[in-house]
Amino acid sequence: MKVLESKAVRSFIKVADMGWQMGWHEINGGNMSYRMTSEEVKEIEENFSHDGEWEDIGTSVSVPDFAGYYFIVTGSGKYFQNIKDYPSESFCIIKIDKTGEKYRIVWGLTKGDRPTSELTTHLLTHSVKSRATGGKYRVVYHSHPKYTNILTYILPLKSEVFTRELWEMMTECFIVFPNGVGVLDWMVPCCAEIGIATGKMMECYDAVIWPHHGIVCSGETLDMAFGVMHTIEKAAEMLVNVLQITGGKKNHTITPDNFKKIAQDFNLNFSDEFLYKK
Ligand code: 13P
Ligand code: ZN
Repeated sequence: MKVLESKAVRSFIKVADMGWQMGWHEINGGNMSYRMTSEEVKEIEENFSHDGEWEDIGTSVSVPDFAGYYFIVTGSGKYFQNIKDYPSESFCIIKIDKTGEKYRIVWGLTKGDRPTSELTTHLLTHSVKSRATGGKYRVVYHSHPKYTNILTYILPLKSEVFTRELWEMMTECFIVFPNGVGVLDWMVPCCAEIGIATGKMMECYDAVIWPHHGIVCSGETLDMAFGVMHTIEKAAEMLVNVLQITGGKKNHTITPDNFKKIAQDFNLNFSDEFLYKK
């Protein structure tokens, strides 16, 4: 089977293009990765080339759990707007070596580019989430959505504040991200430090906000990671609207008792510390 006929690759292209359509990917902003199943690899591996150089994943970073695994990853400096029309130039498939310290490109990025500069964030997040979910989570998605970014200039940069404010915007938020959202301190992008800090925070959350920059989401499927991103950003837009209209005064909101009732009825595990702190 040709690479571009694979369902996994077609989903990757579809979701990347949805992100572009949402306006979350100005210029080369954002990146996405998907950990392939062995069946998905088998279908298309006849197209892979194993001649490329092994490259370091990042200084003193390794993912031994993923030795021999394959990931679909967007290219550094590549534009999401081009992924649909120029897929083989815009993303690649990489293989992790047997030590988990290096990767090499086996398909794609035909113009000689590299995988995203946020590869450390992606692989460390994959590692944490895969371990935490018994291998179910396969996706890491980073974008630059407008309203979430705006909130990082207004709200205190605390996980409990963002979590409660976003939860209160729509009843579904609590169901979509019952563990809340993490908020990191501002950090320099594209370096190992932000990757390590994000990976650590992903032990508690499926989404981590990078202040004045964007969001990193993880999920079982591409649709789910996109869905979490979309829900957070929609709630953020609603909160920005509330702040604009009333200066932040809410006449009504979802109460701690309401959240407890949802948790009970939907059988949700959630961190109830967020019900008492804001
Ligand atoms: P890349 O083009 O290297 O993926 O970087 C984009 C980005 O959003 C950095 O945070
Ligand atoms: Zn970014």
